[in-house]
Order: sequence, then C-alpha cells, then structure tokens
Amino acid sequence: MKFTKASAPLKGTVTIPGDKSISHRSVMFGALADGTTKVTNFLRGADCLSTIACFRKLGIEIEETLDEILIRGKGIHGLTAPDSMLDVGNSGTTTRLISGILAGQPFTTELNGDESIQSRPMKRIIAPLSQMGADIESIRGNGCAPLRIRQSQLYGIHYQSKVASAQVKSCILLAGLYADGTTSVTEPYLSRNHTEIMLKHFGAQITSKGTTATIVPGSELHGQEIEVPGDISSAAYFIAAGLIVPGSEILIKNVGINPTRDGLLRVCKDMGADITLLNKNLGNGEPTADLLVRAGSLHGTTVGGAVIPTLIDELPVVAALACFAEGTTVIKDAQELKVKESNRIDVMVQNLTAMGAHVTATDDGMIIEGGHPLHGAVIDSKLDHRIAMTFAITALASDGETEITGADCVKISYPGFYEDLSMLAK
Ligand code: S3P
Repeated sequence: MKFTKASAPLKGTVTIPGDKSISHRSVMFGALADGTTKVTNFLRGADCLSTIACFRKLGIEIEETLDEILIRGKGIHGLTAPDSMLDVGNSGTTTRLISGILAGQPFTTELNGDESIQSRPMKRIIAPLSQMGADIESIRGNGCAPLRIRQSQLYGIHYQSKVASAQVKSCILLAGLYADGTTSVTEPYLSRNHTEIMLKHFGAQITSKGTTATIVPGSELHGQEIEVPGDISSAAYFIAAGLIVPGSEILIKNVGINPTRDGLLRVCKDMGADITLLNKNLGNGEPTADLLVRAGSLHGTTVGGAVIPTLIDELPVVAALACFAEGTTVIKDAQELKVKESNRIDVMVQNLTAMGAHVTATDDGMIIEGGHPLHGAVIDSKLDHRIAMTFAITALASDGETEITGADCVKISYPGFYEDLSMLAK
C-alpha cells in the first residue's frame, strides 16, 4: 500500500474502535460467568475474533449482532473439551490469558497460532503456572506455542514477576480462580489493570495494592453489560498524525484513558504537544475522554521506567514522533519491545533509518536524534499491525512516496484504519 506526504492539514473527527485488551477480557470473563454478558463497541479485530472462536470451541455460545456481542456464559466450571486444537491466530493476549483458564479445566487442550505466535516467549506463563501445579508444556520444547495443557490441581501462590506484563499477571490471576487458596502477583511496575477492574465487576474477589494484585477463589461470576471504551493504542496513530502534519487539528472521540494506559499522553505532554482532554467520563472504572490534538513544535524527551508498561504498544509511535521533534529522545527500559508481534526495536530502527532518520538501537530501546527530514521508502511491516500503522502516519509528514508491505495486517487491531485515516487526510 502506498502513502504520500499530506498535501493539507488533517482536519476532522474520528471515533476510535473498541479497546482490544478490554474486548478480549469481556469474552473470556463473560464465558466464565453465569448468564448473558452483553458487550457494546466490541473490537471486531482479528485478535478478538480469535478469542471468540476459542471460546466457541470450548462450548460457549456467542452471538454477534450488528452492534453487540452476546456471550451466553456457563459459569466458572462450564467450559467443555474442544474437539480439536484451539487457534489463537496472532494474539498474544488470547494465548496467555486463555492458558491460565485452561490450566484449571478438567480436560486437555492444545493451542497454537501463526508464525509470530510460535516464536513469542511462553516460559513467562509456563513457569508460574507450573509453580501453581499446572500441567502445561511447550509441545516442541522451545518455550513457545504450540502448548498442551492437561488437567491438574492448582495451588495458590505468590508470584514475583520479572516483567511488568498484564498478560502474565492476568494469566496467573485467572488460574487463581481455580486454585485451592489465594493467588497474588507482584510486578516491577504496574501494567494495565483491565483484568482487575473487570473481574471485580463480574463478582470475583480481587484486590490491588501498589503493584500487587490478589485473587481469592470461590466467588461466582455473573454476566455483565460492558461498554468498551475506544482503544488509546489505536488513537495513538491519529494523535501522532495530528501532531506532525503542520496545521492539523483532530478531535479523537471516546478514548480510554485508564492511568495504566495513558503514558503516551504524558510523554506527548513532555514533548510539548498540544493535546486537550474534553468530555472526561469516569465510566465504569474505565475512564474515557475526547482528545483534541493540534499540530505544533515538539522537543525530545527521555522515556523509561514506570511509564513504559503504560505505553508499551505506543512506543513505535513515540519513536516516529521523536523524528519530528527537536533534539534527542531516549527510549529505555523497553526490552519487551523485542518480544512483541515483531522485534519492534529492530524493525523500527531499520525502517526509520530507511526513511532518513537518525536512530540507533540500544539493548533496551532506541536513541533518536530528531529534526532530520524524512523521505519515503519501502517499509517492511513484518506483518506487525502497529508497525504498519506507525509508518502510514509517518509517511504523511515525509517527502515522496512510502510503500508499506503487508499493510493489510492492521486488521489485527483496527480493520477500518486506512478508511479512517483517509477521511482525515483528504
Ligand atoms: C496486553 C498486554 C500487553 C500489550 C498487549 C495487550 C493485554 O502485553 O502489549 O498488546 O491485553 O493484557 P504484555 O502483557 O506482554 O506487556
């Protein structure tokens, strides 16, 4: 797919599709609840559809209408054995969270996904689940999917996680629903807390203190009505586009601004960005706002430490923004970028360099010297949705033509992305 420099400022309003993390969880917890869970603004991206397909195979009836998803939950012990391998597609969230649930089931399940999933680290869930007594193995013995999970008695543990990962945390907490006692997870920094917020609404006994989340098994879960807020990780591309295309003014509606997800807003502010939050709404534990973004000059900053998990999926966008900022931007403490849908340090550095950026890879991030004009190039997305969207917006502020290979991969998290972008970039 080809992109050229925007010939005019970006103007207009965009409504962001539902949050991917929250959409996944609504199906999973709905499946484990008694009664029907009704979800509106569900993200119909390929990843969340993988979660729906998995739970259908586990015996859950899920109805998709034009504007809602209805999950006919069967309670914590209501899942049934699938007749074949579960296909998690490209979805790390599906793989890791469902593994926690499957560890507590009285049947054997095998699950597998695409090439990217088969190279993503699963030892980070195999280790804590095994410590809980789970019988889970990497079928090829390489610490990756395909995984086989057999019936086993689970015990409550306290787990000190080395990584700030909501997928690891959620996996352990979900296994904790089936354990014989309390399970808790402490992480180095607080990762997104959608599991804690939503499971509590469903009736679980779950609490959080600092970077520790604790679950006590034994409560029933009950079907809920869930309105999924817009995904700030998807809004990120329009935030960046609005900031770097001169003269732009974009209103981005209904964006989730949970403090464990809003790091991009804080970093943009540090860079001097003009972003105003309007119509703030506390929601049901998941706050939202409309974001008014205006283009202007940016300056470099340092991004590291506790903010990293709160913008982990937005770091490619931060790297792109830094190319248009005066001075140096340092991204550090972000080793996790190497184990996402692609190695996002290598892929960002390679592709930004091809466009003329001055960027260096480090062991835990990147150093970007901003202010050097970018030009079009052929960009290999590595079939990573966040890479494709990052370069689609980078191209709007770069000279000449940019061609993105595998651009269709945006269907993972934002199927209508190019249509929404073209409405603004007329
Ligand atoms: C997610 C957690 C993050 C994030 C991913 C979604 C989730 O992954 O990168 O896109 O829904 O819990 P990690 O937990 O591996 O950091």
